[in-house]
Amino acid sequence: MNIEKSRIIETEKKSITIIPKEVKENEKILDIGGGGEGIISRIYKSNVTAIDNRKDELKEISDTESLKIVMDATVMAFIDHQFDRATAFFSFMYMHENEIIKSIMEVHRVLKKNGSFEIWDIEMPSGHQVKEDFFIVQLEVISEDLVVNTGYGVQLKEVQSLDTFLELLKNNGFTSVISKSCIDNVIYIEVKK
Ligand SMILES: C[S@@+](CC[C@H](N)C(=O)[O-])C[C@H]1O[C@@H](n2cnc3c(N)ncnc32)[C@H](O)[C@@H]1O
Repeated sequence: MNIEKSRIIETEKKSITIIPKEVKENEKILDIGGGGEGIISRIYKSNVTAIDNRKDELKEISDTESLKIVMDATVMAFIDHQFDRATAFFSFMYMHENEIIKSIMEVHRVLKKNGSFEIWDIEMPSGHQVKEDFFIVQLEVISEDLVVNTGYGVQLKEVQSLDTFLELLKNNGFTSVISKSCIDNVIYIEVKK
């Protein structure tokens, strides 16, 4: 797709460092919207079940150890309380608010008691606030010896900020916030069930 430059907001490159958490051998991590670069699969490998509603995105992941399943995060096929942790790495920017709400409810359902949910995402204006209608975030992701330079682009939708995410999480079962930050428009949140 060829989009005029005047219709696009493109960020300068933002740097994200992920310090891997200690994960036990049998711990299960659900990564939603986990295709594309597959950052979480590349960090946590065989502990990860990556779901994405696009098979082509899952096929792009270079890691061969994670389990990859074509699945809509808004209606997951897992039974309740299956996962120790869940992650969403720049996946919610690809969803409308109603899909984000359904995905949060599903994550809450499939997480075990005390399970954690980590979100990395980006502050974006709503499509009504600005003259542009597309948004591209340029990223450098670093995790130990992994360095990935990438860009994620979407059509602008509802406004998204640290506060909008915290509100949606709180209203959908995640009342315990472990960590939250918004640095250089990059959002990071960890909540617990
Ligand atoms: C920025 S991209 C990939 C980011 C990915 N986490 C990574 O590490 O590169 C966001 C992904 O979310 C997926 N996605 C969007 N809506 C989804 C949904 N309802 N269920 C599952 N995946 C979804 C898209 O297909 C896309 O692959």
